[in-house]
Amino acid sequence: MTAHPIDLRSDTVTKPSPGMREAMARAEVGDDVYGEDPTVNALQDRVAALLGQQAALFVPSGSMANQIALKGHTQPGDDVLIGEGSHNWLYEAGAGAIISGVQFTFCGRGGLYEPADLDAGYKADDHSSAPSRLVWVENTSNFAGGRIWPQPQVEAVCAWARAHGCGTHLDGARLWNAAVASGRPPAELAALFESVSVCLSKGLGAPVGSLVAGTRVFIRRVHRWRKVMGGGMRQAGILAAAGLYALEHNLIRLAQDHESARRFAEVLRTAPGVRVADPVETNIVLFDLVDLRLPAAADFAARARERGVLVNPVGARRLRAVTHLDVDAAAACRGAEILCELAASRS
Ligand SMILES: Cc1ncc(COP(=O)(O)O)c(C=O)c1O
Repeated sequence: MTAHPIDLRSDTVTKPSPGMREAMARAEVGDDVYGEDPTVNALQDRVAALLGQQAALFVPSGSMANQIALKGHTQPGDDVLIGEGSHNWLYEAGAGAIISGVQFTFCGRGGLYEPADLDAGYKADDHSSAPSRLVWVENTSNFAGGRIWPQPQVEAVCAWARAHGCGTHLDGARLWNAAVASGRPPAELAALFESVSVCLSKGLGAPVGSLVAGTRVFIRRVHRWRKVMGGGMRQAGILAAAGLYALEHNLIRLAQDHESARRFAEVLRTAPGVRVADPVETNIVLFDLVDLRLPAAADFAARARERGVLVNPVGARRLRAVTHLDVDAAAACRGAEILCELAASRS
């Protein structure tokens, strides 16, 4: 592999910039388990305000944010209505089953769903069913290739949840991308949900950190679950400072990542035997090796790596590329050209 690969595996691979590191070094800190870290408190207030929620809690990862929210909404034996391939189900090591003891029911196909899909998945509170208690939305949807939920669809799904006595959670690991791409403020996208999780360590480029936001009562409840899961951090202001810096400097620029993804996809569409999944709305591009003379996705990714391009296989013949602040549009296009060459050589 080359010394400086074009790393399109995920937007989590970014490294903190010099400015961010400086902000971290300068951060005022205190013991956050006592609630005394001024930088953590500032970040929590800032994110709660950005999301239009009463309060927010800083946690180490998006997975912990999701899991304490899930725990805050459910009892063991409950059913959670969720989109196909949601991160909570697919990539969190079975934590929903282990920690909350819930079962998941997929609604719709491809990550997004409609009220009719919720009708199909709903289980009433009777003696033979696991009662459906929570509706889970992931925006943008990773499995759907960074798709943004149309706001009328969010409204319909949340209205359905209210009418059926279900809670609502928004996994907004990439809500910032949805907000920038749709031109709607994060608070508008989050407004109808009882709780929201967001990440600072994806497109925003912070090294660590996610938050859960919701009502004060909900945040108090999940604060306990953070402790149970060992997520109470001490002088975490060093990390929170990176998050505050990221929100200030790296939010609006997500539009550049979306443009890079669009241009990457445009080049890749010319690759023989490769089909790019449409639409490309934010920073994620899914593509399929439809020509069976091409190798399987894992082999194709291994060969791309040898040529200095890193992409993730996410299915037998499907791969994912994600743009981010450490790969500019020119590098992303160069990466797509190399993938085109590989496809053309049928290797
Ligand atoms: C949609 C979504 N939710 C949650 C997470 C979990 O974040 P973390 O890797 O910080 O645990 C991710 C990670 O990529 C994600 O894509």
